[in-house]
Amino acid sequence: MQTAAVMKTKIREKSHTEQPMQEDLEQHRYARGPFLSDVRTLKERVRKDMAQGAVTPTYAHDRETVIKVLNHALATELVCLLRYKNHYFTASGMQWHSIAEEFIEHAEDEEDHADRIAERIQQLGGKPDFNPASLLERSHSEYAEGTTMRQLIEEDLLAERMAIETYTEILRFLEDRDPTTRRLMEDILAKEEEHASDMSRLLKALEQPAERIPSAA
Ligand SMILES: [Fe+2]
Ligand SMILES: [Fe+2]
Repeated sequence: MQTAAVMKTKIREKSHTEQPMQEDLEQHRYARGPFLSDVRTLKERVRKDMAQGAVTPTYAHDRETVIKVLNHALATELVCLLRYKNHYFTASGMQWHSIAEEFIEHAEDEEDHADRIAERIQQLGGKPDFNPASLLERSHSEYAEGTTMRQLIEEDLLAERMAIETYTEILRFLEDRDPTTRRLMEDILAKEEEHASDMSRLLKALEQPAERIPSAA
């Protein structure tokens, strides 16, 4: 049977041997890469660059270029918003109310996309560019009006397909070096694909007998 003194000695020895082991483990972990930097160094570094907001030194992309690319996407969304608004009022004027509803829904989606992109630009320390003077120049989709329902839908389908191509390229450019922007653009891309599919469906519906056309659902 062990005396209390022997037990105490054993416990003390154990705690002494555990300490270096813990240090070894920590050293091993820290040696593996920047993800495991020690907390004090990390805090100092983060405090020093606090003015950069959400952008920390671990940000792995070319920030300036990402902001520029996002400003092009913002212009694309704003042009899409204006085009769908125009198409909404044009379609309402032609008494195509159910199709007009589809246009206004898309306009709301594009406004939401524009807001989310602008927010991300700001998080990255950039300035969202809402200047109307250079909007069309920066946009990757066209602003086109129309005088027939077919023209309106065709223009929207064309613009959506252009947005899909552009956003797919943006995703390729982002790779895995900015996961937050990547998730945002993936989300928006999925919505543009839905929009293109809606326009394609409406275009096919135009081939149907006249009494069935207004059904946009
Ligand atoms: Fe959009
Ligand atoms: Fe869209």
